[in-house]
Amino acid sequence: GVAAKIAPSMLSSDFANLASEAERMLKCGADWLHMDIMDGHFVPNLTLGAPVIQSLRKHTKAYLDCHLMVTNPLDYVEPMGKAGASGFTFHVEVSKDNWQELVQRIKSKGMTPGVALKPGTPIEEVYPLIEGENHVEMVLVMTVEPGFGGQKFMPEMMEKVRTLRQRYPSLDIEVDGGLGPSTIDVAASAGANCIVAGSSVFGAPEPATVISLLRISVEE
Ligand code: DX5
Ligand code: ZN
Repeated sequence: GVAAKIAPSMLSSDFANLASEAERMLKCGADWLHMDIMDGHFVPNLTLGAPVIQSLRKHTKAYLDCHLMVTNPLDYVEPMGKAGASGFTFHVEVSKDNWQELVQRIKSKGMTPGVALKPGTPIEEVYPLIEGENHVEMVLVMTVEPGFGGQKFMPEMMEKVRTLRQRYPSLDIEVDGGLGPSTIDVAASAGANCIVAGSSVFGAPEPATVISLLRISVEE
């Protein structure tokens, strides 16, 4: 199978202590750190941007898996690249006309391109981005409406994951929203290998236990 990547969502961390929270997650076994970039326009919430990524980068070498919930992702490519982002995942809903240019620019800045889709967006919309010459390396299937942590997992999104996994056996498929010990099995058996988890990890008395549980489900 495809390697498991467990990515705690730093949206659920204490932003005032971001460096130590990141360090704590890595010690607990996290593979990636999931960073939710919101612009208060594509989603009704505002989080952090390139300046915070740049600050965090000075404290860690970890893979920063950046999820851009923004209306104009192209404007973020250069600043995020300079800041030290590792992955740059943009939303298909706002990049129908310029995804080729986006992917090319993301790669030219040394970042790994990914595409995300909201619950209401059909999976077929990402096929061209996976198959094109300038293609994405990961598809992020949202399992909640983007904007906030702590929402309920939408199991009906697993049909998208299954369809994707059948078509693309070695693609990185990420799920984001409501993942935790009680929902991981359905996501893993559908074929997801990159697991974002915010409230279930940060809310646990022992985040390391939750992270290893998520990993075991993906790997078995
Ligand atoms: C939601 C974000 C998620 C969020 C997940 O818009 O994309 O990454 O932090 O949080 P949980 O795991 O609590 O649903
Ligand atoms: Zn996210």
